[in-house]
Amino acid sequence: MKNTNMLATKKTTSSKTLGLTLGLVLSSVLISSMAVASGNAANGKTLFTGSKCGTCHGTEVYTSKDRKVKSLAALEAAVRLNDSKLNTNWFDEDVKDVTAYLNQQYYKF
Ligand code: HEC
Repeated sequence: MKNTNMLATKKTTSSKTLGLTLGLVLSSVLISSMAVASGNAANGKTLFTGSKCGTCHGTEVYTSKDRKVKSLAALEAAVRLNDSKLNTNWFDEDVKDVTAYLNQQYYKF
């Protein structure tokens, strides 16, 4: 009887440890995917290429001497504004990804 009890206690402890370990692993996965979400240029490229962003202007506006966007924040705002013209309804992360892509490819802030 005593032995069975001890076994039960041991089991509880190890599943608690397992739960804790899983929790830690899950939260670190969450944290790293959040870091990616704040500007994944590769995903931004996919979104941009699949969008209608090229209907009014080509990429020449991004590299022109007279371009209006002078900072990363202004670039994000421009992407957001143009997204609303198209009704693409990109999520916040998508806007950030496209911003990262345009910055990496053209603006280079
Ligand atoms: C309905 C037409 C239209 C569409 C569609 C459009 N744009 Fe634009 N975009 C414009 C116009 C017009 C300007 C110039 C606005 C201005 O005077 O600053 C502009 C400017 C920009 C600029 C700033 C260029 C600079 O001066 O540095 C960026 C960045 C941009 N667009 C990105 C996008 C992206 C990303 C998309 C797709 C979500 C998109 N555009 C779709 C019309 C459009």
